[in-house]
Amino acid sequence: MKKYLLSLALPCALFFTPGVSHAAEVECGSKTDAKGVVHAYECSEAPIDLSNKASLQNGARIFMSYCIGCHSAKYVRYERISTDLGIPPELMQKYMMFTSDKIGDQVNAKIDAKMQKKWFGNAPPDLSLETRLRSPDWVYTYLLSFYEDPKRPWGVNNTVFKDVAMPHVLYSMQQELGDDDFKAGVGDLVNFMSYMGEPIQQDRKFYGSLVLAFLALLLIPVYLLNKEFWKDVK
Ligand code: HEC
Repeated sequence: MKKYLLSLALPCALFFTPGVSHAAEVECGSKTDAKGVVHAYECSEAPIDLSNKASLQNGARIFMSYCIGCHSAKYVRYERISTDLGIPPELMQKYMMFTSDKIGDQVNAKIDAKMQKKWFGNAPPDLSLETRLRSPDWVYTYLLSFYEDPKRPWGVNNTVFKDVAMPHVLYSMQQELGDDDFKAGVGDLVNFMSYMGEPIQQDRKFYGSLVLAFLALLLIPVYLLNKEFWKDVK
């Protein structure tokens, strides 16, 4: 029986191994203490829950309102987002897209990247895969770490990304909502960005569970058959 159970161990281990996007202990900066010793500090944990449609919808709304002026997300299309998150295409078109965009279009930035490089010094990268590149925890902590710094061109700096060229675009949202609701909103935003990094993630996990359940059931007849085949030989 042992070896049959062992044959299940590999798929189980693969299934439950956390993906790159959830690498633990991502560093979000460092602090130097009084003795001059540098300590790395970990990012805050982003509240990721890809089964929470309301959170994903709110995240999509924030992303489309505050981010796609400058950043593209060219590996996803509006239509896919609308279908996956259960947002009716009419509402998507009305509230989340610029009038020139069509539902089948990719999410493109509204301002040309070259112009932005001129204005900001650095071009804003495409954000489709950002949470996989940096991890959701990094992006979450980064968006919550802007602080006033009069020495910088936009009057702000960031503890996670020193001297970043991006302005604090969520400032008005932060003022409007207050700290707790703002944090929850950024959580929804990063949740949406994680969905965007791998839209198939939920389906993959669902089918993964089905396959494991199937293998577990298959184990029973295989075990009984094996006993039957060997019973005269042994
Ligand atoms: C006014 C233009 C502008 C807007 C709007 C904007 N960004 Fe940015 N963003 C930038 C620029 C420019 C950079 C590049 C910063 C650098 O390299 O110094 C950047 C960088 C970033 C990075 C770091 C990328 C990396 O890995 O190096 C993230 C994450 C990010 N933006 C997320 C967002 C999110 C989320 C929003 C919406 C809430 C947003 N940005 C809105 C201009 C913008």
